[in-house]
Amino acid sequence: MDRLWLLFPCALVAECVYLNNAIGTSFALERPLHTAGVLLFLCGITVIAQDRLLQLRSSRTRKLHKDRYTTIPLSHGDEAVLPQEILATGSDGAQRVPLGLRALAGLALLLLLAVCGRIAVFHYTMKSVECTGHSPAAFLLLALALFHGRRDIRDLIFQSKAAAFEAPQSMHYALFRASTRYILPAWLLSTASFLVTTRGPWVRTTFICPMATGEARLTPKLQLLGFFLDCVCLIVFYVLVEDPGRRLDGKSERNTSSRGVVVVGFVIVMSALVLAVAGTIIYTVMPEHREWMMATPSEYLGGLMRLSLAIPCTIICFFITFRFLGIMAAMFIAFFTFAYAGALRALSLNVSSSFPPKSTTELIVYLIWINISIVLYILTEFPEGRVRPRMSCRLQRYHAILVAAILATVCFMAYRYRPGFLTKNSSDHPIANLIRLADEQHSVWALQAQRSRTLKDAVQSYQERYSHNPPPGFDKWYEFAMKRHSVIIDEFDNINKDLAPFSSLSPNELRQRTARILADGNGVGGIRIRDGKGDIVGNVPGTHRWMMDGTLQMIEKFAEFLPDMDLAISLNDECRVAVSYDQLQSALDHRERYEAQKTSESTPSFSPSRAATWPILSAIPPQPSYFRGVGSSASYRTFGSVACPATSKARTENHWDKGVLCASCTTPHSMGIFVSNWSISADPCHQPDLADLHGLHVSPLALWGTHELIPIFSQSRAPGYVDIRYPSPWNYMDKAVYAVDDQHPDPKFHDKENTLFWRGMTTEGVSPGNGVWKGMMRQRLVHLVNNETNPQTILLRAGAKKWEYMYEDPGKIKNLLAANMDVRFVNHIAKCGGHDCTDQEREFGFGNSVDFEHHWRYKYLFDVDGAGFSGRFIPFLQSNSVVLKSALFREWHEGRLTAWKHFIPVDLRLHDLWSIMAYFAGYGLEGGGQRRMVGHEKDARKIAKEGREWAEKVLRKEDMEIYMFRLLLEWGRLTDERREYLGFKGVRPKDERGVVWEG
Ligand SMILES: *[C@@H]1O[C@H](CO)[C@@H](O)[C@H](O)[C@H]1NC(C)=O
Repeated sequence: MDRLWLLFPCALVAECVYLNNAIGTSFALERPLHTAGVLLFLCGITVIAQDRLLQLRSSRTRKLHKDRYTTIPLSHGDEAVLPQEILATGSDGAQRVPLGLRALAGLALLLLLAVCGRIAVFHYTMKSVECTGHSPAAFLLLALALFHGRRDIRDLIFQSKAAAFEAPQSMHYALFRASTRYILPAWLLSTASFLVTTRGPWVRTTFICPMATGEARLTPKLQLLGFFLDCVCLIVFYVLVEDPGRRLDGKSERNTSSRGVVVVGFVIVMSALVLAVAGTIIYTVMPEHREWMMATPSEYLGGLMRLSLAIPCTIICFFITFRFLGIMAAMFIAFFTFAYAGALRALSLNVSSSFPPKSTTELIVYLIWINISIVLYILTEFPEGRVRPRMSCRLQRYHAILVAAILATVCFMAYRYRPGFLTKNSSDHPIANLIRLADEQHSVWALQAQRSRTLKDAVQSYQERYSHNPPPGFDKWYEFAMKRHSVIIDEFDNINKDLAPFSSLSPNELRQRTARILADGNGVGGIRIRDGKGDIVGNVPGTHRWMMDGTLQMIEKFAEFLPDMDLAISLNDECRVAVSYDQLQSALDHRERYEAQKTSESTPSFSPSRAATWPILSAIPPQPSYFRGVGSSASYRTFGSVACPATSKARTENHWDKGVLCASCTTPHSMGIFVSNWSISADPCHQPDLADLHGLHVSPLALWGTHELIPIFSQSRAPGYVDIRYPSPWNYMDKAVYAVDDQHPDPKFHDKENTLFWRGMTTEGVSPGNGVWKGMMRQRLVHLVNNETNPQTILLRAGAKKWEYMYEDPGKIKNLLAANMDVRFVNHIAKCGGHDCTDQEREFGFGNSVDFEHHWRYKYLFDVDGAGFSGRFIPFLQSNSVVLKSALFREWHEGRLTAWKHFIPVDLRLHDLWSIMAYFAGYGLEGGGQRRMVGHEKDARKIAKEGREWAEKVLRKEDMEIYMFRLLLEWGRLTDERREYLGFKGVRPKDERGVVWEG
């Protein structure tokens, strides 16, 4: 029983480790003020409650074991022992005078003001968290140690105790005996843990910290102010809890330290109440704030709940530790744990990769530094003979156990974050490897995509791939594709993947849902096919007429072979259907049952009377719309990531610190800094940080979305959505076309200007006045190239055969980069409201606007999403320039192009842009030694050439028609009453009539 209290310091260590890990990704930080209020309230209550409980308990035990306690007072395991009783010798023992009531009230008021001020500062720094620098919080311990030693420092300075401070004893005395003894270990610990944060593998994101709004200058100052207020809070707290004054009721003589503790508890509760009152006032006075104030998403509540348990527990452990070991010991344990956990995390982050860059040796030095500080602390705290002899033995033993406990925790952490073996150092630049891999990947892909030489082969290949028969009319499709010299015959996985969830719905349900979408007419146009003729139905606004016309033109090429059907086509740029993970999984399970059925006995033609099965639109009774408008608000949680499993990062982590790159979010799709797996590089499930990094997720213009599984055809979709993709009429109708004339020739790659070029507008999403533009990709691109001032990561030569990630100043990078960067917004700031318009105008300025054909002048063209997919991508590919592409949206041709073979992929975070440009264009001064990197223009030219050639083969208008034809045959079968029995089985060779149905 006596030693049971030792559990509390250990628990304190564990809690601190937990908090150190959990805070960085906690959903609770989504609403900092709400969280602060709740946590402060709980903390205050906890402080008071634990004090009362301990008092109660100790007075009871004292009555029971009175004798024992009088003989060995300090082994009172359960009793509140005054720290100064154990430790007070030397100058600590300076007579402690209980605070007068007036002083107590003054301190309480000061604490209240400081806490409230701190909350305000916290609120503002969290609002522009991307502008914050490294947190100086580690130095709080040093501040406290200095305050602790204030008397001796004063004596030291004024030499009033000259006798005690005679050199060299004075030095020894000051370091190990006097109240100044904590300063050295605290200084070591604070510095080391601060250096870990500055030198660790934390890369800045491209999230914009605007210069124009002054946030960039103000926020670091606020951060300092916050630190100052933290110091005030901590010191007042220290004074109050160390106050030897009596309890408020004045009954007990022994449990003296509790008065201050209770005051601290009350002040903290008060500050929570102040916050609540302020919130209520804002709620009543400013109705525009009501919505967000009251919104409580379940993730947020979960995060808050976790912190609401963890932080009060930490406080209890802290106070009990403090009662037994003293306040400085409790502080040291907490800070030491944070520092150690931080250092180990820094060491372990992405051990398998050289990105993000970190200096392992340096970090290990800091780790040793932290260890030295703790040894030093132990030496000063328990020097021989300092503790009363009677106690020393027992205390040393406790202490040994404590140290052992710390070591055990540390070992556990070391195991948890064990550094893997360093990867072997390849002498090739990662991009060279990626290009080689892409070549192989593409040849494998192309081989399986175009294997079939005859209809029979094609049918067989279809059966093998999708384990049922191709749809009726497949022979017509095959003929159509052959006539148009389609390179791709077998690989249409996108169609089957897109339609898969819908086969869980009955044909009738699919038709009903389509009709309901069309009757609703919310950003949807309809196409009706009857007797081999297409028609536009529904009310399509004039601005979007071209879209329907284009689709219809595409369909007319093969409409005669289509069964009667209706299609609901989305007129919006954004995708719309996001189905929850569970619903999607059950839909996909259901599909397997449907597809496995009846493959052997199949009819080769659609049901004859299909037209009658499609509902008549005018006869549909008004029903609530499927769609919900979520324009101008964050959609990642509500739509973008709902299709992710509940255990995925997307649903369990919240990367609220937008200033720091989430390196672990990039690992699954990256090789070092570069994208190595384009297919999953936009997947929301492993990238919770994307919530703040793309217009669609941050604040889409017109996202009319639904969580119902409804069949809607869209031009593109972000991963996580289940819209059915169809070839874009934008490209089919030549809205952006690759055209060359005398004025705008397309020179050979070598003759082009050595420039990365982009022009565009701020139309990726809407920024209505809440500053969300700072995360949008287009804005980040323009800002990164023109206005970034923070050091950027870049992979450079570090030796003859060695590459190393380094931090460089953006200005220097631009100077040394062999290519120019010409990336600007044109015209005006669009899709903005409130001060976001002027802020952006001042931040970015504008470039000259150019004709589309102007692009062919430049070697490097950047292609980036707008509100939907980028319509320029295909024309860019068709030119002699090389395309750098960064995109969330995926189109019908996903998979046909191979990243690093046909285009250069850029991570959605854009942090790899400099390294990519340095590799292709070259970097450094002529004769600049090791840092110089010769450009790999040959590689860029090869990618440009292969992109162009492949696009001419597989992204032609004919290919769009072929894709659409096959898609609609599948859609026809899916909506046919007898769909299980429909299928094209093949041809009898050498039949006189040519083709004969079998079945
Ligand atoms: C950002 O860069 C552009 C282009 O160099 C410049 O016109 C603009 O003034 C810069 N913005 C700020 C706030 O410095």
